[in-house]
Amino acid sequence: MYLANLRLYDFRNFPELDVTFENGINVFYGDNAQGKTNLLEAIYFLSTLRLARAFREQELVRHEKPLAFVKGMFSTAAGPVSRQVTVYRDRKKTVQEGETVKTKWSELSPSICAIYFSPDDMDIIKGQPSDRRRFIDNIVYQVRPAFYKFLQQYQRVLLQRNMLLKAVKSKPNLARTLDSWDEQLSEFGAQLMRVRLKVLKQISAMAENYFSDFTNYKQSLKINYKSEIDISNPMAIKEDFKKKLAACREKDVQRGYTTVGPHRDDIDFLIEGKLAKYYGSQGQQRLIVLCLKFAQRNLLYNERGEYPILLLDDVMSELDIHRRQLIFEQQNHQVFITTTDLKLLPEYISKRSSLYCVEAGALR
Ligand SMILES: Nc1ncnc2c1ncn2[C@@H]1O[C@H](COP(=O)(O)OP(=O)(O)OP(=O)(O)O)[C@@H](O)[C@H]1O
Ligand SMILES: [Mg+2]
Repeated sequence: MYLANLRLYDFRNFPELDVTFENGINVFYGDNAQGKTNLLEAIYFLSTLRLARAFREQELVRHEKPLAFVKGMFSTAAGPVSRQVTVYRDRKKTVQEGETVKTKWSELSPSICAIYFSPDDMDIIKGQPSDRRRFIDNIVYQVRPAFYKFLQQYQRVLLQRNMLLKAVKSKPNLARTLDSWDEQLSEFGAQLMRVRLKVLKQISAMAENYFSDFTNYKQSLKINYKSEIDISNPMAIKEDFKKKLAACREKDVQRGYTTVGPHRDDIDFLIEGKLAKYYGSQGQQRLIVLCLKFAQRNLLYNERGEYPILLLDDVMSELDIHRRQLIFEQQNHQVFITTTDLKLLPEYISKRSSLYCVEAGALR
C-alpha cells in the first residue's frame, strides 16, 4: 500500500498543496519551521485518523481559517482508495472514502495504515511506565481491536475498586465487598495481560533482531515485561493476580488506590543486560525506538498483508552514517523522512529517493 497523491487545504501552514508520491523513499528537506513535520502529520492523520503531535484536532486548521482538509489517493492491493478527512473549527471532523461518508472506524479500508517516528518517541525509553504501556497498548489495539474493550472494562472496574478502597478507610465493614471487585479486576486484568504479552512477545523478538542487525551483532537488546504478577503461565495469571490483590489489600486501603495490576506494569529495555533508560547513549536509545517501529511495521504486515507507510521525523540526527545506511537498506516500501540537511542522507540513498524541498508551507 502506498500514498500516491496528497492534497492539503488550509492544513497547518499549507494553504494549498497537490503532490504526487512514489512508492519508495520520499525525503522532505528544508530549514526549520517550513512545514516538514506538518506534512508527516497530515499523512499520519489521513492514514490513521489519529493525531501525531497535536493535542486537539483544531490545531491542524490554518490560523484564522474555518476548516482544513487532507485528501489522499492510496494504492492498495485491493485497488485505489481515495480518502478525505475534513477538520472544522466548530464541529466534528468528517471522513469520506470514495463517495461515502464513514462514521465507523470499522467501515474504513483496513489496508491503509501508517507508523510515525518522532523525536518525542524517545519517551518510550526515557519516560514513565505509562508511556511504555501506552506504546504497547496502541500496537496491541492496531492488531487486536477487541483489546480496547478489555482495556475499558479493566479501567472501569479499577476505578470502582479505587473508590471503594477510599470508602473502606472510613467504613471498614465495607471491606467485604472488595472480594467481588477483586474477582472482576483479576478476570479482566488477566484477559488484558494475555493479549498484551502475546503481542509484546512478537514485537520484542523482531525488535531484538533488528537491534542485532543494526549493531552488526556487537550488541544485544533484550525486552522484558515487568510485573508483580507471575506471567510465566498465561493461564495462571488470574489466580496470581487475585492472590497479589489480597496480599496488597491493606496497603491499598491505606493509600486509597490499587497498587498491583497491569495498570502498574512496565517494560524494561536492556542493552547488554543494562537498562537503556539509565545507561544507553542517545544514539542507542534512538536505535531501540527505531527497532520497535520496524517491528511494529512487520507485525502489521503479518496481520494485514500490507506494509504501513513509515513516517520518520528527524530520525537521522544522532545516528552515525553506518546506522543511517542500515535504516534505508530496510526500506522496500513507502517511507517519508524529514531532514534539515540533505547531506545527512547517504549519497546512494538520496540518488534513489524522491526529494522535496519544503519552504514556507509549499513544496519546491
Ligand atoms: N495551525 C497552523 N496554522 C498556520 N501555521 C501553523 C499552524 N501550526 C503550525 N504552523 C506553522 O508551521 C510551522 C512549523 O512547521 P513544522 O513543524 O512542520 O516545521 P519543520 O519544517 O518540521 O521544522 P523543524 O525543522 O524545526 O522541525 C511554523 O512556522 C508554525 O508557525
Ligand atoms: Mg519538524
